[in-house]
Amino acid sequence: MDKIFINKKIAQLILLQRIDLASSFLIRMRKLFGRKFFTKFVSKYLINPEQIGKKYINDMEEEYKNISNYYDFNNKDILSIGSGIGGLELIINKKNDVNRFSLIDKNYISEKVVYGWDLKNSEAYNDLELVQIFLTKNGVSKEKINIFDFDKDEFPLEDFDIIISLFSLDYHYSYELYSDYFKKIMKNKTTLIFDTIRPQYFESLFHSVKIIKTINNSVHKSSRIICSGAK
Ligand SMILES: C[S@@+](CC[C@H](N)C(=O)[O-])C[C@H]1O[C@@H](n2cnc3c(N)ncnc32)[C@H](O)[C@@H]1O
Repeated sequence: MDKIFINKKIAQLILLQRIDLASSFLIRMRKLFGRKFFTKFVSKYLINPEQIGKKYINDMEEEYKNISNYYDFNNKDILSIGSGIGGLELIINKKNDVNRFSLIDKNYISEKVVYGWDLKNSEAYNDLELVQIFLTKNGVSKEKINIFDFDKDEFPLEDFDIIISLFSLDYHYSYELYSDYFKKIMKNKTTLIFDTIRPQYFESLFHSVKIIKTINNSVHKSSRIICSGAK
């Protein structure tokens, strides 16, 4: 992919959203000085934005390769839940003619980011203005983007073709947080792709559930599933 637009603030968010991208030096700093110092100082000042941007885009290209084996994004309306800064959407946009991207995320950075299952769903690491900047400066047309703040905005009641959530829904917080909303927007045609720690559970909610990836080397063991035909 061509050189991407990135700055220090965007790189900081990427690092918090995809901690696997941290160099061994950064991980050592986190172990040594703790998560609060890591979030407030290390992730802000001791990073190389270009390097993080490059690794992030490589990661997202790999994610796209996996998902596009199972789904054709052309002419589709896409809803992303917990999109992060939007790297996957960027790659989808480069490779397809998408109708529209709607993104729901939170608009703050937790003081001390702790990864794992977050019962209260209080952890967040995003800045929605920067998501808009990252996407538009990297070639997604402004008219195609709709961004929603989880805590402030009404969720969009549109006919989405696909809902996608990598390392967010049912990975950090329960699917049940969105289940009432999904009941309103999901049609027979709607596909849902997300990373979950309990893939079997979704066989009771969908007619078709297929595991498309197993992830063992991240914050916790999870499966990426593609579901359709909401019951
Ligand atoms: C681990 S990051 C993953 C980001 C991106 N999907 C990726 O794969 O790089 C989790 C994302 O979920 C967001 N998040 C947390 N709670 C959320 C909620 N209730 N609804 C939507 N997004 C949420 C965080 O702010 C963060 O951007």
